[in-house]
Amino acid sequence: MKHIDVIDILDGKYPQGTEVVVCGWVKTCRDSKNMTFIELNDGTSLKHLQLVNDKTSGVAIPVGATHLGASLKVCGVLESNPNGNGFELAVKSVEVLGDCGADYPLQKKFQKMETLREIPQLRLRTNTFNAVFRVRSVMARAIHRYFGERHYVYINTPLITGSDCEGAGEMFKVTTIGYSDKYKNEEEYYANDFFGKKAGLSVSGQLEGEVAATAMGKIYTFGPSFRAEKSNTLRHVAEFWHVEPEVAFAELPDIIEIAEEMIKYIVKAVMDECPAEMDFFEQRFEKGLKDKLNSVVNNKFDVIDYTTAIDMLIKSGAEFQYPLYWGADLQTEHERYLTEQICKKPVFVTNYPKEIKSFYMKQNPDGKTVAATDLLVPGVGEIIGCSERESDYQKLLDAMKVRNMDISAYSDYLDLRKFGSVPHSGFGLGFERMIMYVTGMTNIRDVILYPRTVGNIR
Ligand code: 4AD
Ligand code: MG
Repeated sequence: MKHIDVIDILDGKYPQGTEVVVCGWVKTCRDSKNMTFIELNDGTSLKHLQLVNDKTSGVAIPVGATHLGASLKVCGVLESNPNGNGFELAVKSVEVLGDCGADYPLQKKFQKMETLREIPQLRLRTNTFNAVFRVRSVMARAIHRYFGERHYVYINTPLITGSDCEGAGEMFKVTTIGYSDKYKNEEEYYANDFFGKKAGLSVSGQLEGEVAATAMGKIYTFGPSFRAEKSNTLRHVAEFWHVEPEVAFAELPDIIEIAEEMIKYIVKAVMDECPAEMDFFEQRFEKGLKDKLNSVVNNKFDVIDYTTAIDMLIKSGAEFQYPLYWGADLQTEHERYLTEQICKKPVFVTNYPKEIKSFYMKQNPDGKTVAATDLLVPGVGEIIGCSERESDYQKLLDAMKVRNMDISAYSDYLDLRKFGSVPHSGFGLGFERMIMYVTGMTNIRDVILYPRTVGNIR
């Protein structure tokens, strides 16, 4: 169907008087004695195109064309809007491609986010989701551009894997047979299964990312990760998109610099490329959003040692549900207090106790901490998990033994420390959490097309 994008009309690509064909969905309709006004949106922009019909013109507007949600193909002539802002379309002919009944769930102008979550198949037609998903797309492109411009190789790591990267027991099993009494034990069951051994959906592409980085130098992955976490929170989904750069010859301060630069790059791209969407989020979802993001781009992030962070949180006198002491894992309430009340900006917390972090992190000379960092941001909490990796074969092996890991399942990973081992670092950015931060959306379910959470899939 030959037609043009509404965004190109609104951007002034075509001069007044041009005859054009557009396709889209009816957003609003005002019908008076002499005139019909229809706002059409084709998804290429947050703004709608106004269709105008002077009833004396003799153009017949089919009834269906005035129904909210109906899809139309319209031919018309571009005229400058009498209000002086941009163009509207004087209709010459209208074809209703698909009518839309009065039971269309998006009749009301404002609907609760909870209500919209029940209609994922339609909620993208609202202004809110129109804006969220365009920003999401611009952010994804900015990420590829950021790494592409800096000689990173884009790697696709496997989604089905035999090794658990984070070792937190949050892997979804991948199996073609259900466990039954037929098998003597788990081992026999797995032996009969598709891969002949235990397999699951990857929680992180890091381990394979390291394989690639120790050959290509700088790599990144950008794909889904899966976590069977039973936490029903505003920032957890069972399937999320994960950006994971891995950089050879980078130590912790180097990777922190990269993470900060990348975050700023993404934020700047959205501000530059999505001004209308950012105005919308500022108005509807987070007052001060644009100032916040400008400040992100123009100021250095804080870097605070875990030990200092614990001290600061204790000294703050704030009341927390979970106890604070050296060695405690920071809970969301602590993370948010630190970044929202103390730092009031993004903060890297570094050098966590080794007991609360993963086996692969570089052990610091103090024997107690690892060269890891989490990036915490106001409103969301942790958006990045990051570390320098242990590159010493023996130290890595010892850390795995302490955790009772099945060493044989990680022989590939250990090999990287045998053959030309190098200091290297990487991080994982939760893409949806980053979208929440940039848009001011407060529930992760509203920045992903079909959220998968415990007890909920469709
Ligand atoms: O901190 P995490 O667990 O780190 C890793 O997986 C490392 N292997 C990454 C690496 O170094 N390559 O996860 C990284 C980020 C978190 O900071 C969070 O933003 C996001 O992934 N994340 C989730 N996002 C949404 N829902 C969940 N259930 C998430 N779990 C982690
Ligand atoms: Mg983490």
